Amino acid sequence: MRGRFITIEGAEGVGKTSNIEFVRQFLQATGKTVAVTREPGGTELGEKIRSLLLDRENVDMASDTELLLMFAARAQHIYEVIQPALDRGHWVLCDRFTDATFAYQGGGRGVAAERIAVLESWVQRELRPDLTLLLDLPVELGLQRAANRSEPDRFEQERVDFFHRVREAYLQRASDEPDRFVVIDAGRDLKSVQHQIGDVLQEYAAA
Ligand code: TMP
Repeated sequence: MRGRFITIEGAEGVGKTSNIEFVRQFLQATGKTVAVTREPGGTELGEKIRSLLLDRENVDMASDTELLLMFAARAQHIYEVIQPALDRGHWVLCDRFTDATFAYQGGGRGVAAERIAVLESWVQRELRPDLTLLLDLPVELGLQRAANRSEPDRFEQERVDFFHRVREAYLQRASDEPDRFVVIDAGRDLKSVQHQIGDVLQEYAAA
């Protein structure tokens, strides 16, 4: 049986890293074989593309270049990692996927959603996430949390209104596809965030 494809999304500083680890352990405890991966990246080639995308020296990158690089990395990722794992019956847990493109390149940069949707169909064919956990947090709080980490990359150095548009685009997608998305209130302490996630997974993994 084909495995399940779960994605974790959210803007900067929402706590994806610690929660992904929690999801991995939770699913493994229910007996699933879990492959954890991320975008942009997840393959050797994809990680090289990631470096280009995050490099602050690439100040003049056009929105379409950024968009196409995201999908170039994604094409390789699907081919090399995601589809083979799903075909083996493994569960794939991916730190960001195409919802991030609709949120960042669509909401943030203003690329028309229709253009992104064309690439989505072209690169992914039928592949869509089965479940998406959207970690949601007020923008200012997320940026504060992210600021305590390393040097900002090309995205993290964007202005605050960019991240407001990213958050709005994510929430819009979640309300457009309520069957696939679960919005998690990431403003609460880690324990209660994980409690919310655990409840969702309990039901999902048993289904
Ligand atoms: P990360 O910091 O969560 O690893 O993600 C790297 C950055 O890439 C993050 O700022 C969001 C951005 N991104 C996009 O703009 N579009 C996409 O499709 C993906 C997957 C990530």
